Amino acid sequence: MRLDRFLSNMGVCTRADAKRQARAGNITVGGAVVRDASMHIDPSADVVVYCGERVAYEEYTYIMLNKPDGVLSSTDDGDGPTVIDLLPENLRRRGLFPCGRLDKNTLGLLIITNNGALAHDLLSPSKHVEKTYRFECASPLSDSDAELLRRGVDIGEKSPTKEALLSLTSSTGGVITVYEGKFHQIKRMFAAVGNKITYLERISFGGIKLDASLCRGEWRYLTKDEIASLENRK
Ligand code: URA
Repeated sequence: MRLDRFLSNMGVCTRADAKRQARAGNITVGGAVVRDASMHIDPSADVVVYCGERVAYEEYTYIMLNKPDGVLSSTDDGDGPTVIDLLPENLRRRGLFPCGRLDKNTLGLLIITNNGALAHDLLSPSKHVEKTYRFECASPLSDSDAELLRRGVDIGEKSPTKEALLSLTSSTGGVITVYEGKFHQIKRMFAAVGNKITYLERISFGGIKLDASLCRGEWRYLTKDEIASLENRK
């Protein structure tokens, strides 16, 4: 990989900065000053020091974001601010994208990564990765409607929704876990029983729980254990 690309991917600086700092003699590779930022390095073996700081190599980045209302879960900001805009500038250069989507008005846990293979796996319908949401709905949910939602309802797809877990915390609120990820799935499920979702927050995804210390719009890196637990689902 080119040295300037490596530094940019690690979020250290732009490629133009890398070129400038290399010319100024502020970058070393394996202890030797490198003045040409287009030089090829082996990121996993070479020791790169930028302006006196060792640059550690991480192949992939994994982030947990507490998505606020009104922000799009996409990388393209054509229709307004995206979750990527909530990250600091150095991270926006790493090719990150949200692993799955939440609606603009859905809150809570979003995993953001640049590990395409892992994201593909977690989103694959065959993996049945669980997603848990706290919800509020417009009308009281009867026992029979709750049971229908658990067993599966017709949301206009080829087959009804798969079995879900649902528990009520009030007549109009509760927690639901689904093992598939159809477009607007929870809203369409509630619509199928003549109700309407008025609040939706994802609190868990693939066994990773939303960190309660993160305010809306805040993010943190996933821990090693969290990354391992996602990878071990493969
Ligand atoms: N189901 C929905 O209806 N919306 C979301 O954002 C996520 C799940």
